[in-house]
Amino acid sequence: MKKNKMKILLINGPNLNLLGTRETSIYGKTTLKNLLNDLRKEADNLNIELIDTQSNAEHVLIEKIHTAKDIINYIIINPAAFSHTSIAIRDALMAIDIPFIEVHISNIYAREHFRSHSWLSDISQGVICGLGMDGYFWALKTAAKRLLDMQIYKKK
Ligand code: DQA
Repeated sequence: MKKNKMKILLINGPNLNLLGTRETSIYGKTTLKNLLNDLRKEADNLNIELIDTQSNAEHVLIEKIHTAKDIINYIIINPAAFSHTSIAIRDALMAIDIPFIEVHISNIYAREHFRSHSWLSDISQGVICGLGMDGYFWALKTAAKRLLDMQIYKKK
C-alpha cells in the first residue's frame, strides 16, 4: 500500500505577494509564483506534499494555522512584518504545537532596528534569514529531514 506523504504548510505573510516587484534590491526579482513552482518541484523530489498560503491579513493567517492542526506535519513560515508585531500569530503557532522554521529573505539583523526582534523566533525550531530565496529551499530540506528522522525514530 502507498504510504501517505508528509505534509508541509508554507505560509507567507503580508506583502510577499509582491515579490518580484517589491524593493527588488532587498528581495530580488523572483516572483512568489516562480518561487512556489520551484519549491513544489523540490518538494516532489523529497516526496513531500507542499501546501502553501499567502495573506496580507493577520486573521487569515491565524485561521490557516488553526486548520493545520492534526493535518500538517511541519510548517515553514515567513511571517514578514507580522514577525515584529504579532503575538497573536505566536499564540496560534503555540496552540497547534506543530514544529516550524521561520524564514526571512533579507537579513533582518542588518536592517532597521525594529526588524531585529521576531515574536516567533524563540518558539521556532530555527530561523533562516539573509539567504534570499535559498532560505526557503534550505528550510524545506531541513523540514523533510526532520520528518524522516521522526518517522525512523517512531519505527524503532
Ligand atoms: C521579511 C523581513 C520583514 O522585516 C519584512 O517586513 C518583510 C519580509 C523578509 O523576508 O526578509 O516583509 O520577512
